[in-house]
Amino acid sequence: MIEQKVALVTGASRGIGRTVALGLIEDGFRLALVARSLESLQSIASEIAALNLHPDSQPLLFPIDITKRDSVHKIVAEIDKVWGRIDLFFNNAGAWTEGTLDVSIDEFDRIFSTNLKAGFYFLQAVVPIMKQQGFGQIVNLVCITAKGAEPDWGVYSASKYAFFGLTEAIHFDLIKYGIKVTAICPSWVDTNMAQQAATPYQSDEMIQKEDILNTIRWLLKMSPKASIKEVVIDCTSEQLQR
Ligand SMILES: NC(=O)c1ccc[n+]([C@@H]2O[C@H](COP(=O)([O-])OP(=O)(O)OC[C@H]3O[C@@H](n4cnc5c(N)ncnc54)[C@H](OP(=O)(O)O)[C@@H]3O)[C@@H](O)[C@H]2O)c1
Repeated sequence: MIEQKVALVTGASRGIGRTVALGLIEDGFRLALVARSLESLQSIASEIAALNLHPDSQPLLFPIDITKRDSVHKIVAEIDKVWGRIDLFFNNAGAWTEGTLDVSIDEFDRIFSTNLKAGFYFLQAVVPIMKQQGFGQIVNLVCITAKGAEPDWGVYSASKYAFFGLTEAIHFDLIKYGIKVTAICPSWVDTNMAQQAATPYQSDEMIQKEDILNTIRWLLKMSPKASIKEVVIDCTSEQLQR
């Protein structure tokens, strides 16, 4: 019997995470879904149930605040207990803020707690499981602002630079354990966050959420010795403005 693979997806309640979760269930994964909004997670679970796919397709739902380290460790232990493996960890949840030196310390802490520390908590909890199984794919959703800061987005950009640095380091650290780590660094993706950040582009002028799903599918199809450190996805609308 082939054991079903398990994917842990953070930020699954909407946007990129939701699209990736729904794609992975079609690909035969069992899912552990994380976000604060239980209602949104339940709505994805209903959507999955309606697809009537494999019998074990009902996801585990974890409505937690990922900035709480204890909650993160608790849910990863729960996934380990129930399924005993994590094949793919999509470290995706994030938050955006405008501003640089005018940003309050509380807001600075919120952004760094969400975009850097929470991802770190998950990595500390997930990597021992992957080390034990001798394989795993980690995908950290970073941002193109980690490749060149956006004016007036200093705090968000700094959090993503730091997250990229962490990703790059563990990419090299974990290769010897059979664990692959990849940063995806997209420009504008058509989600609520892009609206919140006042994107000048229409939906169809941006990167689509499915492009991120397809990037993950491509990573998963790589042969065992192929290793991709980062994937930068530009948005042609923005490039044309330059
Ligand atoms: N959209 C873009 O243009 C773009 C471009 C480059 C990179 N990114 C990155 O892509 C990732 C996903 O963004 P998106 O565009 O899909 O944004 P989104 O639609 O705003 O979704 C963000 C997700 O993160 C979750 N989240 C945020 N704070 C959380 C917390 N404290 N605890 C638990 N979950 C939390 C949210 O769930 P709840 O609110 O239910 O908790 C939601 O599911 C982020 O890391 C973002 O920085 C986005």
